[in-house]
Amino acid sequence: MRQALVMGNWKLNATKASVEALINGLVDAAKDNATVEVAVCPPAVFIPQVEALTADTAITYGAQDCDVNTSGAFTGENSAVMLKEFGCKYTLVGHSERRVIHGESSEVVADKFAVAQENGLVPVLCIGETLEQFEAGETKAVVEAQLQAVVTKSGITSLNNAVIAYEPVWAIGTGKTATPEIAQEIHAHIRSWLAEQDAAVANKVQILYGGSVKGANSAELFGQADIDGGLVGGASLDAVEFSKVIAGASA
Ligand code: 13P
Repeated sequence: MRQALVMGNWKLNATKASVEALINGLVDAAKDNATVEVAVCPPAVFIPQVEALTADTAITYGAQDCDVNTSGAFTGENSAVMLKEFGCKYTLVGHSERRVIHGESSEVVADKFAVAQENGLVPVLCIGETLEQFEAGETKAVVEAQLQAVVTKSGITSLNNAVIAYEPVWAIGTGKTATPEIAQEIHAHIRSWLAEQDAAVANKVQILYGGSVKGANSAELFGQADIDGGLVGGASLDAVEFSKVIAGASA
């Protein structure tokens, strides 16, 4: 039985005041839904504040990205070593906004996945197709190629210590959620693709859905057999709404 995981990705949104209100507003939701792991991914500069605010709570946290290098002349980056020192459990790698806006290839994402794991973080590998790819019927081939890059670099068993987040790019921030049936079909495909290589890994790995998840649709999405929780953008910025999303994952 895989534990449900609901993770908020704040993207480039937060103030000191909003972080305090949001974390304090999530403490009860984390307590009331003890079967669900609640995690947040703030912008890196707010990680120390989140570390302090979550100290006596069950809320875990991670970064939105990490560099392929662990130190050196790489202006503007944060390393997995630094994130670990500030108590991060997770880091996202390969979010579609990094792939599309920052031009990260699947090979770069695989390097980030490896360096995160080597330094004690659990990588949350984000995969998903664009609208054009979806309309061309290429979804399965796209997610397979994105997964293959990590398997080639780190091996199939590396996914024993990782999370996968399937986020169709056309559903991110658009209000267009994949139907539970579409999402389940792709999640099941991802799991069977993994099972062809290692059944135990496929059975163990949590696969989150992301893309316009909100309180009103979370229970139906998270109720699907192969959807183990969510990676949530907009709805994770409001404690009341995010608490509803979390409740949707409660068994
Ligand atoms: P939204 O929930 O705002 O669609 O964002 C999803 C996402 O990109 C989470 O990483």
